[in-house]
Amino acid sequence: MSHASQHYDFSNAEAAYGELARDLAALLAGERDMIANAANTAALIYDALPGLNWAGFYLYKSGELVLGPFQGKPACVRIGMGKGVCGTAAVRRETVLVEDVHAFPGHIACDSASNSEIVIPLVRGAELLGVLDLDSPQHARFGAADARGLETLAKIFIDSLG
Ligand code: SME
Repeated sequence: MSHASQHYDFSNAEAAYGELARDLAALLAGERDMIANAANTAALIYDALPGLNWAGFYLYKSGELVLGPFQGKPACVRIGMGKGVCGTAAVRRETVLVEDVHAFPGHIACDSASNSEIVIPLVRGAELLGVLDLDSPQHARFGAADARGLETLAKIFIDSLG
């Protein structure tokens, strides 16, 4: 497939996420390696969504979240369950959307430029695989359409693992 930088028009977020879902499915087709597919998922999301300063994965290992493939500045490596936005989403197994990270108790500031964040848990059956984390320097960058769209992308990633 072509890797030319693609323009997604997020003035219609639902349509843009639909195109992104189609492109992610094509990108991951035929490959089951988790690190490879997480790396390509992070790269596609970071390139496609406007206004991000970080996009990537924390993977669940031995009772904590460990930094996985990502795009953006170097980040904290280990996050305890229940800690920060990532650990909260992992424990609740629900998407957590934070309009102002400075108002979120226990937020872990990896990059002081971040002002809003969304974290999608990655759950396969009863198993927690990790989380998908996106950060933005904009306040309230993420909304309900992002939550729905990113949950669909997370499912495509999980399903790619077989
Ligand atoms: N802010 C996150 C930590 C991960 S970095 O943003 C990449 C948190 O509170 O869980």
